[in-house]
Amino acid sequence: MRFVATADLKPGMILGRKIHTRNKATLLERGVELTPKFIARLKKDGYLGAYITDSFSKDIKVEEAVSEKTIEAAIDAVASVDIDGIMQAASNLIMEISSMEEISLDLLDIRSFDDYTYHHTVNVAIYAVAVAIKMGLSINELNEVAIAALCHDLGKIRIDPMILNKKDRLTDAEFDEIRRHPQYSYELISSNPVVNLKIRMAVLSHHENENGSGYPYGKTGEEIPLYAKIIHAVDVFDALTSNRPYKDPCPPVEALEYLIGGAGILFDITVVETVQTVIPPYPPGMDVILSNGERAVVTGHTTQSLRPRIKIYETGKEVDLSSDLRYRMVFIKDSGYLMKESISGIDTKNGASDEGRERKQILVVDDSKISLDQTRSALQDEYDITTLESGAACLKYLEVKGAPDLLIMDIDMPEMDGLSTVETIRATHQDLAVVFLTAIANRDTVLRCNKVGAKDYILKPVNPIYLRERIEIALDKNMDR
Ligand SMILES: [Fe+2]
Ligand SMILES: [Fe+2]
Repeated sequence: MRFVATADLKPGMILGRKIHTRNKATLLERGVELTPKFIARLKKDGYLGAYITDSFSKDIKVEEAVSEKTIEAAIDAVASVDIDGIMQAASNLIMEISSMEEISLDLLDIRSFDDYTYHHTVNVAIYAVAVAIKMGLSINELNEVAIAALCHDLGKIRIDPMILNKKDRLTDAEFDEIRRHPQYSYELISSNPVVNLKIRMAVLSHHENENGSGYPYGKTGEEIPLYAKIIHAVDVFDALTSNRPYKDPCPPVEALEYLIGGAGILFDITVVETVQTVIPPYPPGMDVILSNGERAVVTGHTTQSLRPRIKIYETGKEVDLSSDLRYRMVFIKDSGYLMKESISGIDTKNGASDEGRERKQILVVDDSKISLDQTRSALQDEYDITTLESGAACLKYLEVKGAPDLLIMDIDMPEMDGLSTVETIRATHQDLAVVFLTAIANRDTVLRCNKVGAKDYILKPVNPIYLRERIEIALDKNMDR
């Protein structure tokens, strides 16, 4: 079977996996032939896509790490805040994942908008357990990680769904309310004596970042418990790859790139390294476009995660990208759910389109031409970019042209460095959003950036995918839920 994005589903396609709703009702059974009505329903409910089976893809096996039965039971337990059920679900997840010959989480979760929270929670638990097994945690610890992961967002039931699913920009008060959910989760489970302190602390700390920019306490590095570090990284991975009312999903390869870009800043480095060993960037069943223009579907793993086995659509030829010398110069250029649409320019997001939305203005200040070019090329498709080469030029620019929507500022510059430039700017522009670029990652730098009211700081050399996501978050906190 292979994965087909909702926008690409056609009447007559046969489902390779059943699709269900939260109330365990099966929406569509495996083997069902899709009709225009079914497809319209999947679109309306915000399903990412579906696994379909056809003669072309009949040999592609998409291994499920955890049985549907266990997933359903876990979702039920989480939805009804049933701690005994959650503990049972945790041990079932561990049993099934650890029985895999080689742990690889290949199956994409296609959940609808409405089912997001519970599916998300169970996905996070599956990823977290896989990472924890790879990191060599004991069975006792695995249990604690799994329970914490299943409980991490329980507190969201206290938050108004209107806020959780709001498509528009959140108000500050709404955003603060969302940021209270780790505490809400902590309070919900703390009344239960079987949930120990390690589990509670993991739940409370799952939005803390390595550099202290997270919440609720702004803990850093060693202060953050390992379980929370694991849950944090896979939580973000799952949020990025899912379809939400307010954002398009990233393909796994991009979400992994984001984690790599944030390693040591937002996420624990060892955890990110381990995530890469259990989540394939190109899972079997996913469509890819090669650098030679050929379209293919991934059919299986090889020893090199970025060069899987594939089958070319046009010729039906199977190629092992890790060993086929005729393809040694060819690489995967694009993958994911929305490729066709992004190529033809059709927007799949419920008719919402970029057109008419004003492009945001970003000013980039950096003394290195190479660095300016890298930043520009990562961002210019989405934003209007102006580049300047010194702090003095930046001050002048602001005086003459006024403030842009966002300022990206290098720290290390001759004469006036980035931090002093922003200090000066603050006298006249208190609210200007600033993101620092720096080659140095240490606590002192972060504290100094925070002191001048920085939204974020990003390590050089910049990883384009990481940079794009962080800039989007800096411009619109909606993304950082
Ligand atoms: Fe959360
Ligand atoms: Fe979460």
